[in-house]
Amino acid sequence: MADQKEPIIFLDDISVTFRTRTGSILHPNLVHAVQGVTIKLMPGETIGIVGESGCGKSTTANVMCGLQSPTSGHVYFQGTDVTKRTADLRKKIGRVVSVVFQDPATALNPRMVVRDQLQDPLLVHKVGASADQERRINELVELVGLPKSALRALPGQLSGGQRQRVAIARAMSLNPSAIIADEPTSALDVSVRAQILNLLTDLKSELGLSMIFISHDIQTVRYISDRIIVMNHGQIMEQGPAQQVFNDPQDEYTKTLLGAAPSLLHPKIGR
Ligand SMILES: Nc1ncnc2c1ncn2[C@@H]1O[C@H](COP(=O)(O)OP(=O)(O)OP(=O)(O)O)[C@@H](O)[C@H]1O
Ligand SMILES: [Mg+2]
Repeated sequence: MADQKEPIIFLDDISVTFRTRTGSILHPNLVHAVQGVTIKLMPGETIGIVGESGCGKSTTANVMCGLQSPTSGHVYFQGTDVTKRTADLRKKIGRVVSVVFQDPATALNPRMVVRDQLQDPLLVHKVGASADQERRINELVELVGLPKSALRALPGQLSGGQRQRVAIARAMSLNPSAIIADEPTSALDVSVRAQILNLLTDLKSELGLSMIFISHDIQTVRYISDRIIVMNHGQIMEQGPAQQVFNDPQDEYTKTLLGAAPSLLHPKIGR
């Protein structure tokens, strides 16, 4: 089944350089956030991207979902070059790829009840008549394991885990081919992290979704990922099947990540 398939997202030798206002002696005005990164996300595949804070994970994710233009390199969505995006292309990308952010509070409108937040993408993309939309909204709450009563709640009335479920339901509303989840569990209480991780795992296997799962913690991506990409200083240090990267890491940096995960919590130099 997987033969001859087009990647859903193909980053071809992407670099992103930011200009900062405040230069310092060590780091002048340019930040090379991503340098020469090539990634192909195939249908149904989950790629875990790991690395320390500041290594370029979110910037890579933003290029993947069209929020950030690359400084150099090309971006393809299902074979179409979308490096230079028009409003039309951006809308198309929005239907194919959805994003789940770290903090559900920022992804949701605090003044809108859950039902309306779930309907919003359907209205924007003019999907179905209102009865179809109603049906889809009900499907979505069920899909992410929320009670129907949550539909009438404001985000602030829900728990952090429930809010992330709403954000995931919203991300799923247009039936995307891929989801990009940037640290989707790290802002959550430890007790609900596993539930959200399980929900994403279920969605990917039930719906055949592709997924980019980003975390600074290599253990978090271990079980959900088919393939793992290790990043450091904007570059890919190592990539391979999850098993292989875990059991037989080739790169020194990967070995450090695996061997000394807790040390990431105490970086030697704040950056
Ligand atoms: N808009 C921006 N302007 C300037 N510099 C930026 C911008 N966005 C990111 N950077 C810099 O680019 C580098 C990569 O940042 P990025 O957010 O991609 O890292 P990350 O791996 O997601 O980190 P974290 O784990 O902390 O989320 C960092 O040095 C960051 O300070
Ligand atoms: Mg980030």
